[in-house]
This record gives sequence, structure tokens and C-alpha cells, in this order.
Amino acid sequence: MGYECIRIMIDDVVFKQLEPGKAVPYDLLLLADPSRELVEGYLSHSEVYLALMDEVVVGVAVLAQIDEGVVEIKNLAVDPVWQGKGIGQRLLQEVIGVARRELCKSICIGTADSSIGQLYLYQKMGFELLEIRHNFFANQYTDPIFENGIQAKHMLVLSMQL
Ligand code: ACO
Repeated sequence: MGYECIRIMIDDVVFKQLEPGKAVPYDLLLLADPSRELVEGYLSHSEVYLALMDEVVVGVAVLAQIDEGVVEIKNLAVDPVWQGKGIGQRLLQEVIGVARRELCKSICIGTADSSIGQLYLYQKMGFELLEIRHNFFANQYTDPIFENGIQAKHMLVLSMQL
């Protein structure tokens, strides 16, 4: 019964690219990245993908080309009300599909060393640890970020060959 409800709900979620001139869902983007300055920095050269439920934005993924044939998921967020229902995983599948169609050779995603659940999700999806950007969060953000009782210090970059 529970599984059936979740499956039906996911079927009702529509994924599409944000159209030019349409409102950017900053409330969601700031869940994944609390620095508006950093978010605006990468939005200017990124594609934004939305998950919509009854035309309401419930999730977002931001994709940027960072090198020849290499894209990075700069931001991934799901509205807290809708988390834990498979939308984040589907958004990841969507942007991986976009990167494949654009014939990219790899896709990467960076997250904090404190983001235990996110690290689980990305590895479950097939991403593997590529590099550590030491003290990224400690240096780039004015206020310290805590998750799971530990401070976010380093960025772990995970990558998937396509
Ligand atoms: N803690 C624990 N487990 C998690 C978490 C978490 N934060 N996020 C995902 N998972 C697990 C789920 O339990 C689930 O496991 P299962 O399939 O074995 O049951 C699996 O990952 C898939 O979960 P979904 O339901 O698809 O994930 P969701 O829709 O909740 O989206 C996301 C995941 C985007 C991380 C969401 O929790 C969120 O918006 N968090 C706040 C913002 C954030 O941290 N974004 C990522 C930062 S990194 C970046 O933006 C590049």
C-alpha cells in the first residue's frame, strides 16, 4: 500500500528545464547552498531543471559545464515536505540523462564531508569519490555549517563516467 502510494506520486511529478525569464526557485537552491552569492555566481552559466507537482516546483537541479565534456551538478534540492519520496533520485537520473544526451564523458557532484545522507544517495546512484577540496566550506562560508552533529569543512567531489 505504502509503496503503491509513493509510486503513483512519483509518476505525477513532471521534470522540465526552467524557461528563460521564469522565476528561479531560490528558496530551494538555498537549502542546498546557503550562499546566495555563490548560487548567483553559478546560475549565470548553468541550466536549471525543475521537478513539478501540479505545476508547483518541488525540486531543482542545476547543471553547469565545467570542462570539455564534463558537467557538474552545482545544486540539488527538494522541498522538505517532499523529501524522502524519491524525487531527489529522479532529479539525479534526469540530469544524468541530459549529460548523456549532450555526449558528456563524465558528470560530477560536490557535497560536504558532513552530508552523510547525500553521500549515501550519490554513491548509491553510481558516483565515486574523485577528489577532496580541503576546507572549501570552512573558507567559503561566513557562518559555520553543521549537519549530523559535525561541521562541514571539506568538499567531497564525486564523479560518474557516462
Ligand atoms: N539523509 C538521509 N538519507 C537521505 C538524505 C538525507 N539528507 N537524502 C537522501 N537520502 C536517501 C534516502 O533515504 C533514500 O534512500 P533509499 O532509496 O535507500 O530509501 C535515497 O537517499 C533517495 O532519496 P530521495 O527520496 O530520492 O531524496 P530526496 O527527494 O529527499 O532528495 C536531497 C535528496 C536533494 C539531498 C534532499 O534531501 C534535500 O533537498 N536536502 C537538502 C539540500 C541538500 O542537502 N542538497 C544536496 C546538497 S549537495 C549539492 O547541492 C550539489
